[in-house]
Amino acid sequence: MNVKDIPVIAIDGPSASGKGTVAQRVAEKLGFHYLDSGALYRLVALVAMRAEIDLTDETALADIARDLEVVFAGAKIHLQGEDVADAIRAETCSNGASRIAAYPKVRTALLQRQRAFRQLPGLVADGRDMGSVVFPDAALKIFLTASAETRAQRRYKQLMEKGIDANISTLLQDIRERDARDSNRSVAPLQQGADASLLDTTSLNITQAVDEVLRQYAEICAKAV
Ligand code: DC
Repeated sequence: MNVKDIPVIAIDGPSASGKGTVAQRVAEKLGFHYLDSGALYRLVALVAMRAEIDLTDETALADIARDLEVVFAGAKIHLQGEDVADAIRAETCSNGASRIAAYPKVRTALLQRQRAFRQLPGLVADGRDMGSVVFPDAALKIFLTASAETRAQRRYKQLMEKGIDANISTLLQDIRERDARDSNRSVAPLQQGADASLLDTTSLNITQAVDEVLRQYAEICAKAV
């Protein structure tokens, strides 16, 4: 079987839009594999920061990206044996990831690693360039977004639930800065592709968003028969 025959659902969108949760649930419902591409950028940032590597040293960052020894096991992310699933969610990693993601060499180093997730019976991949660069032939491309204020509120609630102290106006400012950086970079910027379907979740809950993606995918499958 040709790898191109393995279906991909690409879900792209800005930070804290809920695309990770939606993508994960869609993958569960369909029995598909799941790729959290942002986790790869976060891992590179974490390793670089721990090694005190300058986050502007593109070549060193690309080396880290290429050599990452990571195993995704459900909710756990093992980096050389250590579970770093929580560590990569820290705001320092979010900002570091957004900065290093602007480097073409880092993106290229992560490309094959992401494509290797495309396995039977299918893949749901979330990120910024899943539909535009990594899986341009995806069966369904969704651009999932919500207003910056809604995203800041969701992030605030998430952090509070984890017992992490947060300030909503700082979160909103961070989200706006990250949006600007992710959208204005020259390589694989965050933007809705012409072939992607817009899903604004500002007034939708997770279940409604998941159902909408599943509905669109079922429609595509029905047309293909
Ligand atoms: O989806 P996330 O918030 O975990 O992503 C963290 C950062 O990584 C985000 O600021 C932009 C970058 N990223 C990217 O450039 N391309 C991707 N496919 C996924 C994430």
